[in-house]
Amino acid sequence: MRTRREFLTSAGRLGLVAAGVGAIVSRPRGPVAAGAPRTIDLEAREIKWELAPGKAIKAMTYNGQAPGPTIRAREGERLRVVLKNSLSEPTTIHWHGVDVPNAMDGVPGVTQKPVQPGETFTYEFEARPAGTRWYHTHFDEHRQMDLGLAAPLIIEPAVVEPMAYDREVTLVFDDWATGTGRPVPATDAGTAGGRGSAGGMMSGMTRGGDGMGGMMGGRGMGGMMGGRGMGGMMRGADEPAYDVMSINGKSYPATEPLRMKKGERVRLRLLNASAEHTHVLRLSGHRLAVTHTDGNPLEAVVEVDALPIAPSERYDVVVTANHPGAWFLHCTQPGHVEAGERMLVVYEDHARATPPEPERGITSLTLWGYGMGRGRAVLPVPTGNARNVVLTLSGGMMGSDVWTINGKRYPDTDPIRCQKGDRLRITLRNNSMEAHPMHLHGQSFRLLSTNSTRYAEPLVKDVVDVEPHMGSAVIEVIAHNPGDWFFHCHKPMHMMGGMIALVKVG
Ligand code: C2O
Ligand code: CU
Repeated sequence: MRTRREFLTSAGRLGLVAAGVGAIVSRPRGPVAAGAPRTIDLEAREIKWELAPGKAIKAMTYNGQAPGPTIRAREGERLRVVLKNSLSEPTTIHWHGVDVPNAMDGVPGVTQKPVQPGETFTYEFEARPAGTRWYHTHFDEHRQMDLGLAAPLIIEPAVVEPMAYDREVTLVFDDWATGTGRPVPATDAGTAGGRGSAGGMMSGMTRGGDGMGGMMGGRGMGGMMGGRGMGGMMRGADEPAYDVMSINGKSYPATEPLRMKKGERVRLRLLNASAEHTHVLRLSGHRLAVTHTDGNPLEAVVEVDALPIAPSERYDVVVTANHPGAWFLHCTQPGHVEAGERMLVVYEDHARATPPEPERGITSLTLWGYGMGRGRAVLPVPTGNARNVVLTLSGGMMGSDVWTINGKRYPDTDPIRCQKGDRLRITLRNNSMEAHPMHLHGQSFRLLSTNSTRYAEPLVKDVVDVEPHMGSAVIEVIAHNPGDWFFHCHKPMHMMGGMIALVKVG
């Protein structure tokens, strides 16, 4: 068994490159030079993108690929990213999960002016903290992100993490509205999780969710209230009809197979760039050992059979190749496999094996839930005051596209004010029929509880999926990055509908 450090060394010697999304525009080379930024060029432009044979769309891309090129950096490395806007409309880039200076955060009208067609804008920041981060447009996300303007940003830790794996692959999951197929049912009640619920399609699974085991959790209610069926009816009038699911920009059968060698440990960096859908990911025949939540390390790995991942969440998992054959890595959500969300995972010498069809109506599987992981304490220690805020999330009634925080739509929502060093506790209550993956810019937070279950060793995340039908979550922000930061639902239609508050760190 090799350690990661040994692997990195041998990978360097053999010239191996981490596989995954398209071409890697940039990898760190040699030690990080103090002060001298590395320049990376990104061009936002429209191209025709083929998701699968017969499914070509007019996409918006970074450097002509969807998802855009993976940026790899060393923790603390200074990056200078020059964005050229070759679209026919304005755009910006947000560095999701990165502690950038406020002026580099990419929020039009708050931290910068939109970058107009033909213009360039230079983003400069230190890549930190380490982990699976990403970047995406923050202008008209409901169109631009939907059309492909998103990509991974992998920050390698300055100090090697104590975890063993042999190589890594990044997988970006995305939903597309192409008008070529049957729309996939909306994700609403009961998916992001199965985090402690008995919602329809999850029934029979064992959940470690909110520490409630497989019993009735917060989500049970979702099932009773109609869950998914109702959600379909409640779809907002302008919500796109997603009909294609992709992995790294390709939809099955065009997804690229992952080849594995018996005995190797493959780290998968999973990123959900979908606008609307939560995926519940499964690699048939294998377990997934969860190591990181939104890029931040756990104290110990957690083995599960399937992993719910809400829009904008990331999970790192390690798969041990101990079951030779051919398999599918796929989503277990209804309709997702049919929409193309699967890829072949095939062992050396098993190229001709036939993989078993993705499981349907799976039972007795252990699903990841927020209550199962013990987060490592990587955030700064608070030095200031404690503040408490309660935010009630509502909207979407009778199919409306209005989404509110404490009854108000951004920009009329009340800003949350605090000082650097303060400990800000935000209680989120979801009064609506859909889950809301709430994301804070500029700093990660600790997830203290969900649905009233407190966690002794909180996960560190930058997005928390708040369950529908009176689901709740409490997060703790150690305000360490000054500026005006967006705190919003990462479903672009909800964000556009008003579900945004500003957190002002003075
Ligand atoms: Cu990925 Cu404002 O977010
Ligand atoms: Cu939402």
